[in-house]
Amino acid sequence: MERSLVLLSVWALASILALLLVAAEECPERILGNERKRNCPRNCKQDKDCGSKRQCLCDGQCGLSCVVPSRTCPWPLAPGNNSEAHLLSPTPSFSALLAIRCLPGYTMANGLDAAIRRCQGDRQWSGDEPVCTAIAFLPPPVVDKGPLPSCELPEPDVSLVIVEGEPTVGTTIRYSCPSGYVLVGNSENVCHSNQTWHFPHPICQRMFCPPPAEVENGYLVAVQRREYDVGDTIYYLCKKTYSLDGPNRVTCLSDGSWSANPFCRARCPIPAQRSRIIIDGPKRWPYDVTDGVVQHGENVTFFCKHPRKQCSYTAMETCFDGQLQAPSCYMEPTWLQYKLFPHRLVSEIDSCSPADLDDL
Ligand SMILES: *[C@@H]1O[C@H](CO)[C@@H](O)[C@H](O)[C@H]1NC(C)=O
Ligand SMILES: *[C@@H]1O[C@H](CO)[C@@H](O)[C@H](O)[C@H]1NC(C)=O
Ligand SMILES: *[C@@H]1O[C@H](CO)[C@@H](O)[C@H](O)[C@H]1NC(C)=O
Repeated sequence: MERSLVLLSVWALASILALLLVAAEECPERILGNERKRNCPRNCKQDKDCGSKRQCLCDGQCGLSCVVPSRTCPWPLAPGNNSEAHLLSPTPSFSALLAIRCLPGYTMANGLDAAIRRCQGDRQWSGDEPVCTAIAFLPPPVVDKGPLPSCELPEPDVSLVIVEGEPTVGTTIRYSCPSGYVLVGNSENVCHSNQTWHFPHPICQRMFCPPPAEVENGYLVAVQRREYDVGDTIYYLCKKTYSLDGPNRVTCLSDGSWSANPFCRARCPIPAQRSRIIIDGPKRWPYDVTDGVVQHGENVTFFCKHPRKQCSYTAMETCFDGQLQAPSCYMEPTWLQYKLFPHRLVSEIDSCSPADLDDL
């Protein structure tokens, strides 16, 4: 901004001086057709060649011409694109000078950032309207500083370690291992200014799973191996009447363990015969239950008699791997009770009210 202003002043001053010198010395001969959009007033040698209102004055490339000195050029001008106009003379009349300056970052086709226009005898500003265009900035030159000082990386042919980051001085790098391997050592390292690493490089150790444990009362569907790779899967099946406790598909994890340890669980015989029970639904006689058994994990609800009142309450037990005990409050009815008084069986009498259960 400051620089362009100085430049403008110097340029303007030089132009003014040149014009004044031209005027003081002698006016150029009229150069016809050289200045475009130009109507030169009548040629003259002296004032009396012109009419009463006109004077014989030097009008730039028109040479000495009959002009009306009080006539003015357009002012103020419409705002230009990327430029500012300053009138350098007190009024925009004949011979007045006008400076057009490009805004910072803009320049004219001739490489200058300012131009001077003169008010001509035809009441127009001399020359074409200047066009200020943005200066194209060149990218800063790339300075080749040569390779930066760095530390040595692990041999890629020997080490499986994957390095993330640049091994240059002062930089931290990160290590990782391919799938199926675990990193043994530090996962990060920093290169010191003396071009040595803070820690030794880690190594990648292959991970594998041991053969899965044999499953009682079931089968493993897998190729027999001493070691299994990370991601390998095996399937579990149980023998007939046994149910699988856990997923049927197990995977070797990256830490060398199996994702699950399923079991084959046995069914439980129902420890009641002459009393109705509940297995996920309505009351049933045990002889109505298929094979008289429930699956591992299933709940069986038994009916117990209130110790002092003629009412029943329930107690639940869960089958666990073949083990299902009747609750301690349950009494198996005798054959006579079952045959002679079926309506008086504990599972058939009214259930106790919540109040009855308070003093159990
Ligand atoms: C300014 O720029 C616009 C768009 O580029 C153009 O249409 C207009 O003629 C320009 N005006 C001047 C005075 O150069
Ligand atoms: C390199 O610099 C580090 C930290 O400044 C220092 O601990 C290490 O001993 C240096 N190693 C050698 C070989 O000079
Ligand atoms: C058995 O009962 C327990 C406790 O109420 C419950 O969490 C479980 O889901 C039940 N099991 C079945 C198979 O309904």
